[in-house]
Amino acid sequence: MIYHEKRASLEEGPADESEDYNLPQPPAAHEINNRPAHWEPETAGEKGDILEKVRNFKTASQLRELGLYPYFRTISSAQDTEVIIEDQKVLMLGSNSYLGLTNHPEIKAAARAAVDKYGTGCAGSRFLNGSLDIHLELEEALGKLVKKEAVLLYSTGFQVNLGVISALVGKGEYVIGDKSNHASIVEGCLLAQGKFLRFSHKDMAALESRLQRIEPGAGKLVVVDGVFSMEGDVIQLPELCRIAGEHGAAVMVDDAHSIGVLGERGAGTASHFGLTDQVHLIMGTFSKSLASLGGFIASDAETIDYLKHHSRPLIFSASMSPANCAAVLAALKIMAQEPERIAQLWRNTQRMKQGLCDLGFDLGDSKTPILPVYVRDLMVAFKVCKRLQEEGLFVNPVVSPAVAPGQELIRISLMATHTDKQVDFALEKLGKVGKEFGLT
Ligand SMILES: Cc1ncc(COP(=O)(O)O)c(C=O)c1O
Repeated sequence: MIYHEKRASLEEGPADESEDYNLPQPPAAHEINNRPAHWEPETAGEKGDILEKVRNFKTASQLRELGLYPYFRTISSAQDTEVIIEDQKVLMLGSNSYLGLTNHPEIKAAARAAVDKYGTGCAGSRFLNGSLDIHLELEEALGKLVKKEAVLLYSTGFQVNLGVISALVGKGEYVIGDKSNHASIVEGCLLAQGKFLRFSHKDMAALESRLQRIEPGAGKLVVVDGVFSMEGDVIQLPELCRIAGEHGAAVMVDDAHSIGVLGERGAGTASHFGLTDQVHLIMGTFSKSLASLGGFIASDAETIDYLKHHSRPLIFSASMSPANCAAVLAALKIMAQEPERIAQLWRNTQRMKQGLCDLGFDLGDSKTPILPVYVRDLMVAFKVCKRLQEEGLFVNPVVSPAVAPGQELIRISLMATHTDKQVDFALEKLGKVGKEFGLT
């Protein structure tokens, strides 16, 4: 419902498909099976009472009552291969720390040294008083990694997508995105003044038909995830770049789950396909492989200069903290010096994937360390997640709106620092619980 309201308020909505207005909705209480009789469906608020929907929102409390609520679980230890939740040690299979660097001593030391030198915050945006030399050093290092002329840091990856897409896609222009794009891309597209069109997941014919219907003179940006964050599959970038090129569209790739995973020394999706020159904008985040918080956009110098003066989430928000910058710089250094980490991440992925396939799980089209175990049922997703935690595994249930209703899955993600023993332990437990729910 949130999406409906936002979209209805747009001056110009998606051009050609009413379904473009219907993003998957969060599950309402009445959509949850096995609900107690007293569950009430959410209702529209009484006229004028903005908080009625708040009082009518029962889904979370009802899941809590059933002991199935899987969100905001509190971890009281470092983000590592094992974490402590409510005094229980569990194996972490739900982290985006692909290279296992979040608790690395050198990275922690670098963050501490940055606090000593610069203090704890920047107290302003990059635009005004918040630009530090360490920001420039990090931008330069990232430019070398992804082989782009210029880079701009933002305080989160979410802000990159909001700030870049909304600044570039003006009135009368178009942004075209895959339907499985990350929420931050969708929000950037909704914030933009131009028209927002979508195509079915990785359907290149649909992309082409969208582009064909746009007037040739209009500016166009095609934006996609490099690695899709829930499904773990990879965009077919060569075909996408060819089609975009034929229609004069610029290409932006979100490499949140590709940096440190794909490409030469972890440089991301464009590097993986040898297409860096054809991807105009490469977006990345520091909250996954790079053990920190923040994000970046890489492009040619003119585009970056334009963003510096037009991107509101950059100009009107405080800059990345020095400790976060220093942590990323240290993580980049380790990633370059220890390429065996990426190799180990892929070995772990292969071991887990083979084991899950042997057990008979449905893994969709995953090609990366993100392994979706499809359960295709909302309540089963919550129940499996709970059972796995009882068995000592932390996994994430993924339900609408992160995936379409009916495509519910358990998201398993590997880290370079998982041991064979941990992977085998996970497979044993997943096999046991999978059998209980008839998934294998
Ligand atoms: C594909 C994708 N893009 C962007 C983001 C946002 O990144 P950040 O956590 O840095 O805000 C995420 C985070 O979940 C993501 O998965």
